[in-house]
Amino acid sequence: MFNTSYIEISRTAYKNNIRYLKRIIGKEVRFSSVIKGNAYGHGVHNIVPLAEEAGIDHFSVFSAKEALDAQKVKSPYSQIMIMGLLDDEEIEWVIKNDIEFFVFDMGRLEKTLEIARKLGKKARIHIEMETGFNRTGFDYHQRKELVAILKKNREHFIFEGLCTHYAGAESIANYLRIKNQIALYRKISNYFSRNELIPNLKHTACSAAALTYPNTIMDMVRFGIAQYGFWPSPETHMFRFRKDPKESNPLRRLISWKSKVMVVKDVQPGQFVGYGSSYLANKKMKIAIIPVGYANGFSRSLSNMGRVLIRGKRVPVIGTVTMNTMTVNVTDVPGVEKGDEVVIIGKQKRMSISIASFCELSDQLNYQLLTRLPVEIPRYIVK
Ligand SMILES: Cc1ncc(COP(=O)(O)O)c(C=O)c1O
Repeated sequence: MFNTSYIEISRTAYKNNIRYLKRIIGKEVRFSSVIKGNAYGHGVHNIVPLAEEAGIDHFSVFSAKEALDAQKVKSPYSQIMIMGLLDDEEIEWVIKNDIEFFVFDMGRLEKTLEIARKLGKKARIHIEMETGFNRTGFDYHQRKELVAILKKNREHFIFEGLCTHYAGAESIANYLRIKNQIALYRKISNYFSRNELIPNLKHTACSAAALTYPNTIMDMVRFGIAQYGFWPSPETHMFRFRKDPKESNPLRRLISWKSKVMVVKDVQPGQFVGYGSSYLANKKMKIAIIPVGYANGFSRSLSNMGRVLIRGKRVPVIGTVTMNTMTVNVTDVPGVEKGDEVVIIGKQKRMSISIASFCELSDQLNYQLLTRLPVEIPRYIVK
């Protein structure tokens, strides 16, 4: 093991999640696997083949760089869609490579049409509309100008999609805002139809929207977090649970994060452990040093708070998490020795540590914690 920790990714868990999510959206709806942020930390090169095995042939990324990463590992039959950043210089590459992309402002639209015209090749565009998230998208008042330009340039693009993104469908606090966004999207979509501009796909839903607002599902869902086995929020989980109480948690986490004990030592009462004085031993203790610190994705805010599993027991992190190590209290776990497996996230014997518990302690979202797992940590696909 040349790395201080490693990540296992469960193929069975992934297939389970895809089966569950496909059951919710139905057979006719396209499943786009959102693989931005290095596939939410799981590794694009791991997730793309797994997704293809599960019948997925559409991948959503943020940038041209991420599209390039996906292109290297996808099958020729799968499609890539860029939802975010695209520099003018990248548009030519994107069009030439049949990559779909969001167009959300006049500048990008004009550039796209100009390059498509020059190349003599149609750009595969998704028109993104601003419905209330206030990030990217054409404003409602731009619809006439937008439609006029599109109608005049029909031969230079394929109208792959008409889309928008919701402002927090995972929280009931945003209920009204989401409802308004759905209504505005419908109005815009009708306007396009009346002007004989019919997209191949209408798509608006991310995980939370698809799981809690069935009318957002439309022709395609852009599933991120849920395919990796995480609920966008506890509310989303409870919403599904109340609908289908037979299964308490139909989603399975793919990721397990493991390391091993580097050093075991005794500490005498009255001694501080680690930098400074944040932990004082008040009795004779046994501690274990684990070679994972904040440089490896284990947040410093878990100092004196985090937990890991050793020999099937949950043990607390004591003292401050350092750049490359954390220290845990193993006084009550008999026989701990150098080389013992340490589970930072995942299961060991009958105990388990979820990312959710981890996140609550450190105030990080699942999303943030996953995407902060350094790319250097090796990831292995397991059964
Ligand atoms: C435009 C867009 N669609 C879909 C998603 C996927 O969201 P989630 O991971 O909540 O499913 C994201 C993620 O932030 C996004 O930005």
